[in-house]
Amino acid sequence: MNAIHLINGPNLNLLGSREPSVYGTVTLAGIEERLRSTCDERKIALQCRQSNHEGDLVTWIQEAGEAKAAVILNAGAYTHTSIAIRDAIAGSGANVIEVHLSNIHARETFRHTSVLAPVCAGVIAGFGSHSYDLALEAICNTIFETSRN
Ligand code: DQA
Repeated sequence: MNAIHLINGPNLNLLGSREPSVYGTVTLAGIEERLRSTCDERKIALQCRQSNHEGDLVTWIQEAGEAKAAVILNAGAYTHTSIAIRDAIAGSGANVIEVHLSNIHARETFRHTSVLAPVCAGVIAGFGSHSYDLALEAICNTIFETSRN
């Protein structure tokens, strides 16, 4: 059975109330529910986790690599700084789609650089909570498709 691990990093537990003008009003539980219903329909196993701690994200990416699960990753601010998360993606061989609710390229310059993007399969940013749904579509149409060929 195809599997997706949805991994969210720091401050994403605050979605819904956190800077709604930037991140919208949908909660993380709401995003997870939407993805769960799509995955149920398509018979994809979905695991959802969130942590404010960098090491948790490293461990979970390694686990996804071992489990051969595709990953939808919003690493929050660690996107711009974490060599440890980048090394986890590269080292585990996990297929990771980097997602952001906001368009990081239209924001402060310190958000323009992702240290993770070069080792990810692709990046989706700027579509609010729909960035996650688009990542799910990308996985179904490329990664799962590819792994079947
Ligand atoms: C974010 C963008 C990051 O720059 C920020 O630190 C976040 C959220 C996004 O989803 O738009 O925490 O990853």
